[in-house]
Amino acid sequence: MSTEFERWAREVRRLAAERRAVILAHNYQVPWIQDVADHVGDSLQLSRQAAETQADTIVFCGVHFMAETAKILSPAKTVLIPDLDAGCSLASSITAEDVRRWKDEHPGAMVVAYVNTSAAVKAESDVCCTSSNAVEVVRSLPADQEILFLPDMFLGAHVERETGRKLHLWLAECHVHAGIGAQEMRAKMEADPDAELMIHPECGCSTAAMYLLGEGELPGDRTKVLSTGGMVRESKESSASRFLVATETGILHQLRKANPDKDFQAVNELAICQYMKRITPAKLLRSLREGVFEVTVPEPIRRRAARAVQRMVDIAPRSPVGAGAP
Ligand code: 13P
Ligand code: SF4
Repeated sequence: MSTEFERWAREVRRLAAERRAVILAHNYQVPWIQDVADHVGDSLQLSRQAAETQADTIVFCGVHFMAETAKILSPAKTVLIPDLDAGCSLASSITAEDVRRWKDEHPGAMVVAYVNTSAAVKAESDVCCTSSNAVEVVRSLPADQEILFLPDMFLGAHVERETGRKLHLWLAECHVHAGIGAQEMRAKMEADPDAELMIHPECGCSTAAMYLLGEGELPGDRTKVLSTGGMVRESKESSASRFLVATETGILHQLRKANPDKDFQAVNELAICQYMKRITPAKLLRSLREGVFEVTVPEPIRRRAARAVQRMVDIAPRSPVGAGAP
């Protein structure tokens, strides 16, 4: 007898085949959706999948800016998101008008935009980045280039530490990651001194962790700042058997699935993104059945945003990108 998951998954796969659709799921999605998807990954991995897919339709199980990024990269494809209210508090912290005003205050500066932004904000930016390539993107810019980095201040501070460069930072944060604080991170590490600590750079505790690392109070070989995709890779390559994970708890499913013999615990079990969790198994089914909800981006905005996103997707370490480059 098949289980409820198997029956649902069979129907999802049947409808996806009928629509010639590819299902992309972010690492923070609920386990059923991760398990039924064609590809599960972080923002950069999913952008690459969206750019390369041969499917007619992309069903994006993630938040709205991710689906928009897929549409920016693959304009000829139909992009669906199972719930249009799957937003992102970080992306909502800055508008295109804010960026234009900021640029006016810093003529000649380049704008590096985290992908957690609207298409309109991307259109005002020179190059995008994700948590997995932000350091490389900034390193690829000329050393004396003035940079406006938006919108996440903790990721920006991480890039400053790694590159030794001073950036102008937009002072916003993700409410989920900002809530993963230094005190609980420290308490969890003290209670489990052999564990490896994996921290997402959006976390409120990332700056404190790097300070403690510098002071020798956290183990240098077992404290890593990583994107969610980087965490999955690190979990497989590391010789550690216990991990403390500072990010949204949806990632635990992917980590445990990839490493059944290893132990993964959240630094904060309450770090749950309510936007990511708006995508439910029932809504995915409806999305495939009814072709809802289509994500569109006005063409003039899409074209300008595409330059910044494509530059990020193509970025190769050590290839300088100048302010006026195409
Ligand atoms: P990743 O690209 O590391 O998966 O991060 C996306 C995100 O929204 C983090 O909150
Ligand atoms: Fe946005 Fe934060 Fe949710 Fe990521 S975890 S999608 S940054 S609100």
